[in-house]
Amino acid sequence: MSTSTMGQGKQRETSLAGEEPVRRDSDAEVETTLQIFYTTERAGAAGLSDGGGPFGFDVTVALLVNDLLAAYRCDAIVETGCYLGDTTTYLARRYPALPVHTCDVVAEHVAFTRQRMALAGVGNVQVEYLDSPALVRRVDAAYRRPLYFLDAHWEQRWPLAQELAAIRHGVVLIDDFDIGHPRFAFDTYDGLACGPHLLARLQRVPSHYFTPSPDADWPLPCLQVGRRAGVGILPIGVDSAPLENHPHLLTRPVSAEKATTP
Ligand SMILES: C[S@@+](CC[C@H](N)C(=O)[O-])C[C@H]1O[C@@H](n2cnc3c(N)ncnc32)[C@H](O)[C@@H]1O
Repeated sequence: MSTSTMGQGKQRETSLAGEEPVRRDSDAEVETTLQIFYTTERAGAAGLSDGGGPFGFDVTVALLVNDLLAAYRCDAIVETGCYLGDTTTYLARRYPALPVHTCDVVAEHVAFTRQRMALAGVGNVQVEYLDSPALVRRVDAAYRRPLYFLDAHWEQRWPLAQELAAIRHGVVLIDDFDIGHPRFAFDTYDGLACGPHLLARLQRVPSHYFTPSPDADWPLPCLQVGRRAGVGILPIGVDSAPLENHPHLLTRPVSAEKATTP
């Protein structure tokens, strides 16, 4: 088990190009993530095939989010599709100084998550009864550099392309993304996998995308023994260097997918 996700030893430096580096105590960061992640209830077990929990109970995604929030100096966090608020609760508790925006199109999910936020005593979250592209458009206009966790999908509803089209600047994590490894699950809608082929069909086709390396030695092990989802990462309107330089991310060209897109 390594002790640092970016750089060596207790301290690490992360920055956007041309800005002052931020010094962080990575052992303390990992400890805080560990503590809050595993004290967040898995209400999502009621209906999710992975048994619920923040980020599908994959702590390595929480570690990645922590790295990216620091590297990009994000000014807001956006989750689309809150369901019963497992990831929302974690984000709100883990980042009390950041505004957290989430939404859902099922009124009961919104009501449940709002009540959960009230019980948790967190004051930095807005839970809205809203179609996710509308939330993304609003947040994009209000903040400089949000981190997006795009997880709004359910049966026939798949607003991912509209969500991505609405983002002008931010670092984006797409959940349930095909990272090309059998341990990591992904979703498929109308015969189209949530993965690189989908990126190749977007209005604005990105040149590259990023995925966590399946072999990465994160400072905490993933304890999800069931369904583990892949995550695709896109920098939109922001520097891609923090992703290229992250030791646990792989850089992948989208162009290779274009040629084989069905
Ligand atoms: C996989 S669940 C989200 C899980 C949640 N992010 C978590 O980590 O616990 C997907 C949610 O997206 C919601 N959803 C589906 N389409 C949506 C849309 N267009 N806008 C907002 N939410 C949507 C569904 O109602 C469902 O609650």
